[in-house]
Amino acid sequence: MSTLAHIAVSEPSIQQDEIDAVNDAVRSGWISSAGAYLNQFETAWAAYCGRAHGVSVTSGTTALELAVEALDLQPGDEVIIPTFTIISCVLAVIRAGATPVLVDADPITWCMDTAHVARRITSRTRAIMPVHIYGHPCDMDPLLDLAERHGLAIIEDAAEAHGAEYLSRRGGTSVWQRCGSFGTSSTFSFYANKLITTGEGGMILTDDDALAARLRSMRNLAFRADRRFYHTELGHQYRMTNIQAALGVSQVRRVGELVKRKRWIGEAYREQLADLNMLELPTEEPWARNIYWMYGIVLRDDAKIDAKELADRLATRGVETRPFFVGMHEQPALLERGLFKDEHCPVSERLTRRGLYLPSGLGLTEIQLSRVCHAIQEILQ
Ligand SMILES: Cc1ncc(COP(=O)(O)O)c(C=O)c1O
Repeated sequence: MSTLAHIAVSEPSIQQDEIDAVNDAVRSGWISSAGAYLNQFETAWAAYCGRAHGVSVTSGTTALELAVEALDLQPGDEVIIPTFTIISCVLAVIRAGATPVLVDADPITWCMDTAHVARRITSRTRAIMPVHIYGHPCDMDPLLDLAERHGLAIIEDAAEAHGAEYLSRRGGTSVWQRCGSFGTSSTFSFYANKLITTGEGGMILTDDDALAARLRSMRNLAFRADRRFYHTELGHQYRMTNIQAALGVSQVRRVGELVKRKRWIGEAYREQLADLNMLELPTEEPWARNIYWMYGIVLRDDAKIDAKELADRLATRGVETRPFFVGMHEQPALLERGLFKDEHCPVSERLTRRGLYLPSGLGLTEIQLSRVCHAIQEILQ
C-alpha cells in the first residue's frame, strides 16, 4: 500500500451558503417536492441555459426517460444515439418501447460522429440524442440540419456539459449557445460529480410550453389539476425535493466561477501532459468551449500499457481514476435482448480500452494536479 495522500477522481464543492440554504429548506418544513427553492432552481437553470422552462426530476436518467417518453414513440420507431455513452441513454429509448440505433464516436471529440448519423436515418427514425461527452460539446449544427430535413426530434443530453458552449453557424450567422439550449428538449444530471450538484437530481429544459406542462404532470404521477387521484395518463414519481433544490439554487449562483475552475484544470493538465507523445488529450474545437467535466486521456496504440494497467499503477501512487465508457454495442445486458448483434464501432472500442479520466474535481489543487502528471510521466517513461 502506498502511503501517499489519496487524490480523489472527483469531489463536490459545497460552500457555507449552500449548507445554510439546505438548512433553511429543512427548517422551513418544505422538505418534499413543494417549496420555493424548486421554482427558483428551475427558473435559474433554464435562464442560464437560455431556455423557457425547467422541469426538475430525480436524476439525469429519469430526465432522459421522461424526455423520450414524451415523444410518444411507437414500437419500431428508432432513436439514434451514440454508442459511447452511459446506459441511461439506451434505457430511455427501450423503456419508451422504441429501438435504439447506434453511431460510433468521433475520434477527436469522443462525441457521436455526426457524419455517421445521416447514414443511420431510416423511414422509422424519430429522434436523435446527441450527448456532450466529458464536457466537450457535440457538433450540433449537422444534427439540427438533419433533424429539420427529416422532421426529427432532438433530445440533447447535457448531463456532462453544464456551462459548455457551442458556436452555432447555421443560416450564415455565428452564435455561441450554451449546451442545454438545443432541440426539442435537453436534459441535465446534478449527481455529486457534476459541475452543479443537488446530491442526486436532474432537469429537463424546453422552450415548448405544452411539453413543459406535460413533463410536470408526468413526473408527478400524472395527477390531474381538475381532480386529484383521477388519472388519464400513467405517470412517474420522479419529483425532486425542495432540500435538493436549495442546494441547486446556491450552486447556480456560482456557476461562472465553477466553469472557470474546470477550464483551469483542463488547461493545466494540457500544459503538463502535452509533451507525452504517448497520450491523446481532450480537444477544444474552434466551435466549442469545453468545460473538461472530466479530464480524459487516451493511450496511443504504441503505448506499451492499456488504460487498465495505467489506472492500476496510478492507484498504487494514490491517484484515483475512472475507466472510459463501454460502448452500448459491447453491453451483455443489451446483446442478450437481441440488440446490436454483430455491430462494431472501432472508435468507441478503442476509447474503451485506451481511455481513462483523471482527478478532475473542483477542489483539485495545483500541487495535486502536478502530482498526477508526474505519476503519469513516471509510469509512461
Ligand atoms: C451523459 C450522461 N447522461 C445521463 C447520465 C445520468 O445521470 P444520473 O446519474 O443523474 O442519472 C449521466 C451520468 O453521469 C451521464 O454522464
